[in-house]
Amino acid sequence: MGKYDAVFERSIERPEEFWGEAAKNITWFKQFDKVLDDSNPPFYKWFVGGKMNTCYNAIDRHVENGRGEQTAIIYDSPVTNTIRKISYKELLDEVSKFAGGLADLGVTKGDTVVIYMPMIPEAAVAMLACARLGAIHSVVFGGFAPHELAIRIDHAAPKILITASGAIEGKKTLEYKPLVDSAIAQSTHEVEKVILFQREFVKGTLQEGRDIDWKELVAKSAPVPCVELDATDPLYILYTSGTTGMPKGVLRDNGGHAVALYWTMKNLYNIDPGDVWWSASDVGWVVGHSYIVYAPLLQGATSVFYEGKPVGTPDAGAFWRVISEHKVKSMFTAPTAFRAIKKEDPNGEFFAKYDTSCFDCLYLAGERTDPDTLHWAEDLIGVPVIDHWWQTETGWAIVGNCRGIEELPVKEGSPTRAMPGWDVRVVDDVGDEVARGTEGNIVVKLPLPPGTLTTLWKNEERFIKSYMSKFPGYYETSDGGYMDEDDYVYVMGRMDDVINIAGHRLSTGAMEEIISNHPDVAECAVFGADDKLKGQLPVGFFVVKAGVTRDGKEIKDELVKMVRESIGPIACFRDACQVARLPKTRSGKILRGTMRSIANNKDYKVPSTIDDPSILDEITDTLTQMGYVKK
Ligand code: COA
Ligand code: AMP
Repeated sequence: MGKYDAVFERSIERPEEFWGEAAKNITWFKQFDKVLDDSNPPFYKWFVGGKMNTCYNAIDRHVENGRGEQTAIIYDSPVTNTIRKISYKELLDEVSKFAGGLADLGVTKGDTVVIYMPMIPEAAVAMLACARLGAIHSVVFGGFAPHELAIRIDHAAPKILITASGAIEGKKTLEYKPLVDSAIAQSTHEVEKVILFQREFVKGTLQEGRDIDWKELVAKSAPVPCVELDATDPLYILYTSGTTGMPKGVLRDNGGHAVALYWTMKNLYNIDPGDVWWSASDVGWVVGHSYIVYAPLLQGATSVFYEGKPVGTPDAGAFWRVISEHKVKSMFTAPTAFRAIKKEDPNGEFFAKYDTSCFDCLYLAGERTDPDTLHWAEDLIGVPVIDHWWQTETGWAIVGNCRGIEELPVKEGSPTRAMPGWDVRVVDDVGDEVARGTEGNIVVKLPLPPGTLTTLWKNEERFIKSYMSKFPGYYETSDGGYMDEDDYVYVMGRMDDVINIAGHRLSTGAMEEIISNHPDVAECAVFGADDKLKGQLPVGFFVVKAGVTRDGKEIKDELVKMVRESIGPIACFRDACQVARLPKTRSGKILRGTMRSIANNKDYKVPSTIDDPSILDEITDTLTQMGYVKK
């Protein structure tokens, strides 16, 4: 039996022993009484009775153990021409003072705090300060529009909102404060205070009585120690797209999260304390939570905080410059970033300009790594390129290649094998396991390992309905795929109406909800079309109400604007077309999957339940004219 097989087998057969041992790497104020409480499935609790604090484990203990002078965060911002190194000691100072400021404003354990910030270290300071106090943070990605921020404010009901005056997105300067003011005006929940971090290049206006300047707050606050928390107390809520306009508030605990993330840094990513690690994502996504902020700091590594793009800031050599300048051992990003670099620098001329001999491995996730990108990157960089599959809900990889245990051979199109702790199966629609090589629903036998979602914030019913009902005893991932004879998993894509645009998860259902608010639109459908750069892009079809004679192109432009203004630029909703009718089943269900197959030039079966098959010919013609269907 290989080394990996042995670790995996033990994790599945004796999970309490496995994770109990992993938990020894976390500093507990009080040892837990039980590793796993499985008395109330599917609500499993890890490390019950344990007392700890995630911020203490991520910062304080490293300072106490002699790592104070080591760099914790390297802020590298080509868009503002800044490089700033923050040691663990300095981070402790900043976080404990900012936590003091929050405490002065009345933030205590269990309060919620919304954070809407660009990729600046203050975003991590805000998150860690919340963790220090036991307040539950909810970071909202800066590419979401005020309407989306308002939905999250209303659901999370924060006491405080923390933001910055703006960001530089590629070459554009964006003002955040008007967006925040608009979101607060749109929401019904009343935020007590807004803390504003002013940036040099754009200043936000403070609203008297409500808004507080970050620096002024910190100047008069005293550092506070870590609050002792239960392992099962919530650390954060992270909203992610579901199939409707209302996102799902994934809830993460403290103890299980710290144990699992710490474990992954060595065992999956092969990162030791003191190594330089770079996750080129954004704090607004789960990758940013887990692998820009929490995991590298829990491990005592150095985390690069990059405010820039893979291309255009200033060129396609940006990644190589960062790797060589900061001696990055390994990095993690989305395949789309590499497709963007490949498009601009297919022959790797920029790569050749830098000494990247420090570089050990490239990890990709967020979407399937297509074989072209995999091989291009492997050939160019000459180090392993490791795909791994996970979701906001899971917080860390479900399927991966544990290089810290035993590096398994890479097979193109597969993120390799189930990670320790994950009993992954592929089942048909009635829950029976399918044969190897046959596609089905990818599910995970319960209990899930530590660090995964404990429930959905204020919505246990949706938690059960979305993940735990269809296949009792299993977690439904909503991804489809298959397993081969060597237990390699192949993830083929979402089975629901969630799409993946440039590694960002978005809901077509949410876009439909916006479009159907247009006064001329009777009904609509949005689905994902394959895109060479971004993986998928949304395409919309709309049917106008009887009597509407306006130009369809004009309506389309209005819809594009509406989606951009409501969801945000990140939705990349640019293509839509008026059609006379939408294909439906006899019971009225719109056949989005069939339209998606047509748009993506895939074979499809005409569903037996279809109301009028001739509509599919009309749809095919329209998609041909739009340039999706290739003759
Ligand atoms: N704040 C505000 N706006 C943002 C934003 C942010 N944080 N992030 C993106 N946007 C805007 C962009 O400016 C763009 O606006 P535009 O329509 O006015 O041009 C729009 O949202 C779409 O952004 P994006 O899809 O990122 O496209 P892009 O052309 O700017 O960049 C890539 C393309 C491939 C370079 C970029 O998507 C990328 O680096 N992807 C990697 C993704 C990643 O790290 N994912 C995390 C999971 S690991
Ligand atoms: P998010 O919750 O934003 O991380 O998005 C999760 C979804 O992204 C998954 O359900 C998958 O559909 C997709 N995804 C993430 N990583 C991979 C991967 N390595 N291979 C295939 N799909 C992936």
